Amino acid sequence: MKGIVLAGGTATRLFPLTIVTNKHLLPIYDRPMIYYPIETLASMGVREAMVIVGGKSVGDVVELLGDGAHFGIQLTYRYQEGAKGIAHAIGLARDFVGDEAFCCILGDNILRGPGLADVAREFESGPHGAGTLLYRVPDPERFGVAELDESGRVIGFEEKPQHPKSDLIPIGVYFLRPDAFGVIEHLAPSGRGEFEITDVLNHYIPDRRLFTRIYEGHWTDAGTVPSLLRAAELARDDDLAGRLAPPVVRPGG
Ligand code: DAU
Repeated sequence: MKGIVLAGGTATRLFPLTIVTNKHLLPIYDRPMIYYPIETLASMGVREAMVIVGGKSVGDVVELLGDGAHFGIQLTYRYQEGAKGIAHAIGLARDFVGDEAFCCILGDNILRGPGLADVAREFESGPHGAGTLLYRVPDPERFGVAELDESGRVIGFEEKPQHPKSDLIPIGVYFLRPDAFGVIEHLAPSGRGEFEITDVLNHYIPDRRLFTRIYEGHWTDAGTVPSLLRAAELARDDDLAGRLAPPVVRPGG
């Protein structure tokens, strides 16, 4: 399975930390933020990924990650002009992905716990058109939020609702197939002017082609000051428990 890592956006919620630098370069405990999602993809068995870059310090992101050999992933890059949304950024990887199922992970998502190799395999060999992992949070209004029916099935996602219909959110791990690019092509921008990933996921719900699993580990994004700190705490806890391998260092740097 190929991977996509999103490292664009403007990160205004972290100003002034991100006025002159790219959010994904900020330290989380002992390594730059973007290491975590790349390590998550590598541990899933992904060997080829495209990093979508945008915003500040794009050259530094490329300099940091290089060709990806030290992560065991071959990395290529694509530039996103502006911050037009997660779905827009995914759309830029169409030629890279070709005709395979793929996994997109947000560059500010930190997963600590069970690896995703099994869930990736299950999606890839199954009938679903799209998939995501759900996680229970105390502040769902900050995220996409799932609405569930009485049987617990997801019947829709709302992006940053004022009145969340549950506390279950889709984290920034998306399993997709190339037909998602056709869906993205026909999306309209949301009220906040972005092409929303939740609209892509919603497309697969009516005919039951959406795959969801609860993520059983610890998860946080790192896009706000409290969540940036939380991410560092998760990494520190894993380090103290002997579950955090030392960060890889690129040869010569
Ligand atoms: O973290 C999970 C949440 O991520 C989901 O629950 C939401 O449904 C999803 O929309 C997203 O919400 P955020 O508001 O947290 O997304 P944010 O704008 O912070 O962007 C997430 C990552 O994607 C971040 O690492 C930057 C990257 N990105 C974002 C945009 C808007 C891009 O590469 N390009 C973009 O245009």
